[in-house]
Amino acid sequence: MYTGRDIAKVLELIAPLESGVPGDELGFIFGDPDQQVTGVGCTWCAHARSIQLCADQGLNMIICHEGIRMPEQRSPWYDGPKTAEEIVSNRVQSELLTKHKMVVYRSHSNWDALPGNGVADQAVAALQIEGLKTVARQKFFSVQEIPRPMTVRELKSYVDRGLDYTSCRIFGDSTKLVRRFSFLIGGFGENQFHMPQAARDMGAEALIIGEMSEFIVIAALEMGIPVIETLHSVRNPRYQTPSGTAGASPPGPSRPLHPQRRRHVRLEQVN
Ligand SMILES: [Fe+2]
Ligand SMILES: [Fe+2]
Repeated sequence: MYTGRDIAKVLELIAPLESGVPGDELGFIFGDPDQQVTGVGCTWCAHARSIQLCADQGLNMIICHEGIRMPEQRSPWYDGPKTAEEIVSNRVQSELLTKHKMVVYRSHSNWDALPGNGVADQAVAALQIEGLKTVARQKFFSVQEIPRPMTVRELKSYVDRGLDYTSCRIFGDSTKLVRRFSFLIGGFGENQFHMPQAARDMGAEALIIGEMSEFIVIAALEMGIPVIETLHSVRNPRYQTPSGTAGASPPGPSRPLHPQRRRHVRLEQVN
């Protein structure tokens, strides 16, 4: 048996905490890191259904991407729950995590940033466009060149199929022919106001985004950049997350990142 801390050590060999964004919430966020782990579930969010699914599988460690508690209500625009404990979602999650003696570890910007196997590169890989070439890169996104011009509508068809999600929306000119695009994963289309401009300045002619702020999309349209909107939580259906039975092999740097041969309980894609 291994403790949560043993498992974290392995994960951090792959995606060191220092490789994430300074100040980002990373590492253990609930429970006892020294408890013996019966199994690990990898989830996007540790919301109630995911926690319950983990418990049903006999797992007592969750590696999640997003945080587990909603922030307190501080907005002057309305009266709402006064404390974090009054927020129903927080209470439900805490009760389930406590009841099932879960330990929760958050792997966020350090996993986004991971070259190749990280969220940003895996999102591009999911599109399965043959002959893509990376022509520019920042830590959390890249500009990809398609071997031939294609319309935004055709690019969307790769997104639909690649992410197995057919409710993607196009904003802007769907007939525009493009050669270069950026995939701004997860919440970047919602909380990183000038990332579209940065992508454009690096050569992107179209954007694929996760969560959407209409203001950000309008700003992209003002730059002549069409936008394909997906969802924060959509996943690469072909990607195997590094979850599985914690006791299957000893912690160490030689453990495979794509453990196809090990048992997996994929609840949601880490995104
Ligand atoms: Fe996030
Ligand atoms: Fe995210």
